[in-house]
Order: sequence, then C-alpha cells, then structure tokens
Amino acid sequence: MDVFRIEGPVRLSGQVPVNGSKNAALPIMAAAILAEGQSSLAGVPNLSDVRVFVELLKSLGCGVERRAEGDMLIDSTMIDNPVGDYEIVRKMRASICILGPLLARCGRAEVSMPGGCAIGDRPINLHVRGLRQLGAEIHLKNGYVIAEAPHGLTGASIFLGGSFGSTVLGTANVLMAATLAKGRTVIESAACEPEITDLANCLNDMGARISGIGSPRLVIEGVSQLKPVRYTVIPDRIEAGTFMVAAAITNGELELVNCRLDDMMAVVDKLRGIGIAVEPKGNGCTVAGTGKIIPADITTQPYPGFPTDLQAQFMALLALAQGNSLVIEKIFPDRFMHVAELNRMAADLRKEGPAVVVAGVEKLVAAPVMASDLRASAALVLAGMAAEGTTTINRVYHIDRGYERIEERLNPLGAKIRREEAP
Ligand code: EPU
Repeated sequence: MDVFRIEGPVRLSGQVPVNGSKNAALPIMAAAILAEGQSSLAGVPNLSDVRVFVELLKSLGCGVERRAEGDMLIDSTMIDNPVGDYEIVRKMRASICILGPLLARCGRAEVSMPGGCAIGDRPINLHVRGLRQLGAEIHLKNGYVIAEAPHGLTGASIFLGGSFGSTVLGTANVLMAATLAKGRTVIESAACEPEITDLANCLNDMGARISGIGSPRLVIEGVSQLKPVRYTVIPDRIEAGTFMVAAAITNGELELVNCRLDDMMAVVDKLRGIGIAVEPKGNGCTVAGTGKIIPADITTQPYPGFPTDLQAQFMALLALAQGNSLVIEKIFPDRFMHVAELNRMAADLRKEGPAVVVAGVEKLVAAPVMASDLRASAALVLAGMAAEGTTTINRVYHIDRGYERIEERLNPLGAKIRREEAP
C-alpha cells in the first residue's frame, strides 16, 4: 500500500487541466449497456474506480478498450451475464448503477447489494422503489438484489425524494430504465446534479426522449431501442473544486483549464466569501489566495447547493481561517472521518452531531495521518501542503479512486509530494 510524504508549506502556481468527471463517466459507461453495439466515450478519467467499472462491464459480457488518453470504446453487442458480482461490487458502490440499464436491456438483473462505507450507510431503497414502480419485481436473495421484468417495463409517475433529498445514482438508475419502458415516465424530485444532466444528454444522443433535463422533474417518453453513441464527459467539478482549494490553502495562484464555473456557483460563491479571488478565464478560471481566509458557514445540499464531495476539502481550508466557521453535513451526516485526522495536524475541529465547529488556527503542523475515504484523503493532501513539516498520509489508494496521479499533477505547480511504498 502506498503512502504520501508531503512537505509543506508550499505555494502553488501555474496551470492545471481538469479531467473528465468520475461521477458523470460511471453512469454514462453504464448507459452503454442500453444499446447494442459500440459506443465511444471521450473524457473518461483513468482512475481506479473507472478501472473497477471496466472490470464490471467486462464481467457482463461487454468488450471495453481504452484508446488514447480519456477515450474508451464499450462494445455491448452481447450481454450474456447480467450479474454484478459481489467481488466487484464490494470494491465500488457506484456499481449499483448497472441495475437499471441491465434490467431494461435484459429483462433481468442480479446485482450484489452494496454495503455501507466510510461515509455512511448508503441505502438503495429509492432505487428499488423507482424500478418497482416501472413494473419490475425485485427481491433480495443471498445479498443480491434480483430484479425481473420479463415482459418489459412500463412508464409511471415516480416520486424519488427521500429523507436526505434526491438521490444521484437512484435517479440515474430509474432514468436509464425508463428510456426503454413503454409509455411515459415522470420522475419527480429527480437529482439535478450536472452529472445527471450529462447522463440525460448522452441518453438523448442515443435516441432517448427525455425532457426537463437539469430540473427536478424529468419526463421520459419510452422508445423501443437506443443506439450506440459518441459522447464527451463533462469536466469534474469536484476535482476542479479541490484544485481551487489547493490554490486557496497555499495562498497560491492557479489557472484551471477545462472547468465549468456554471456548474460550481455555490462553490465559487463560498470561495469568494472566504476571500479567494476566482475569475473566469477561457474555458476555465483563475483562483488566487489574497493572504486572508475569512471564516464561513457551509451547509452541504443537493445541487445547486454546496456539494458534500467538497465538504472535507473546505474544512481543511477553514481550519486556517481567522475566526470560527460552522460546517453542516446534510447529505451524509456521518461524513466526518477527516475531522480527527485534521485535528492530528493541529486543527481545532469539534464535531457536534451532523455539524463541525471549526475554530481557525494560525498554522497546521505535519503529522502521520490516515486516509479514510476519497474526499477525506483529498482534504489531508491539501492540509499537508499547507502544514509545517512532512505529513505522511497512509492508505492513499483512497485518493487514487477519484484523482488521477494527483502528486504528478500538483508537483509541477510547486507541491512536494512523494509516493512511496509503505514500509
Ligand atoms: N439515499 C437513500 N436511499 C437511496 C439512495 C440514497 O436514503 O436509495 C440517501 C443517501 O444515504 C444520502 C442521500 O440519499 O443520504 C444522497 O445519496 P445519493 O444517492 O445521492 O448518493 P450516490 O448517488 O450514492 C453520488 C456520488 C457521491 C456523492 C453523492 C451525493 C457517484 C458515483 N457518487 O452518490 O460521490 O457524494 O452522489 O452527491 O456519483 C464521491 O465522489 O466521493 C462520492 C461519494
């Protein structure tokens, strides 16, 4: 298992390209299941989560080939094993988004029930409820969700909201299944995340008839078949946000290339409130520290609210603010594994239920810390670049799930991050 040794403090400057979005790419790869033939995707990041998804698609019978950087061919002419095996699904919860497309394409799907993870329980009751309303019979057997619709799916009016708001992958699953259902489906309280918009645009390019894209009410007129597609995945707004915090926490100046500020208004607004300069430039933006970090209150919410996937990174930044901040997590109330680790680096964070009181400190100090999940690990890398001394981050495989060779991308900007094999 690799570890990172990060020397700090550093000041980042330069230009960094933002890769394609992991959370858009995964459901779009699943969408390729819906159409017989070869789809061609661009902007697919080379991450360990994507590699697990490739393994999953291959296990179903698809052919998958990586071409040049970011390009991927998925041949779903033959799907002869509509089973999401436990050994693959347990590695990545997002595997559940094959359930809807497999069911629609094959009339049957068996997918291992994903377990919880470091950020919480992560149930799939809304996915199941939505697919049942489309006419699927679903039961649980030996840890597998078994979904059947031998005579096809039928359009329905579906309310997909839950106690924590909308569901991103639940919307993806029901949306994909509904494209091939007979008649009209209305999904109310659909997730509005840009990744769902990207999926819906891709599905329409495949011949689906979806309207209301980007809104909480999606209307889908079912079609009898979809065709393979050529599609480019949107840039990763969470990777972009992480680079923005990297500029801010090191009081540096970065130019992000390939970044859609329109998808990041809540994040940009928060950064500006914290005292960070963010300006549009070309197809991206510049982000610069101004020497001060103003405290802020952050509440995570479904899009267009502040994303839970940037909560940990912003907490690292606010740990250095000149005053007290409050961070409230409304999507995954237990997503605070980074709190104890940041405190090991001399942050002053106090967890109170689904909230954390952040008392700003003058400086962070290096320490050995443990990566617990993807975004928590990113927060530790950010803190490590600002802290005095050499921070060691254990279990960096978590960060490789969602950031492609992060050290090779930050080092040319002035970071000092070494990847080593754990002793
Ligand atoms: N929920 C339910 N029932 C369900 C599904 C979800 O109660 O059937 C709850 C969840 O427990 C949570 C809330 O609804 O409290 C939102 O969960 P959601 O279903 O939207 O999460 P997800 O689709 O499983 C995706 C991203 C996550 C991101 C969340 C929220 C992918 C592959 N994953 O997960 O990304 O945090 O949406 O925006 O798209 C990450 O990239 O680090 C990551 C965890």
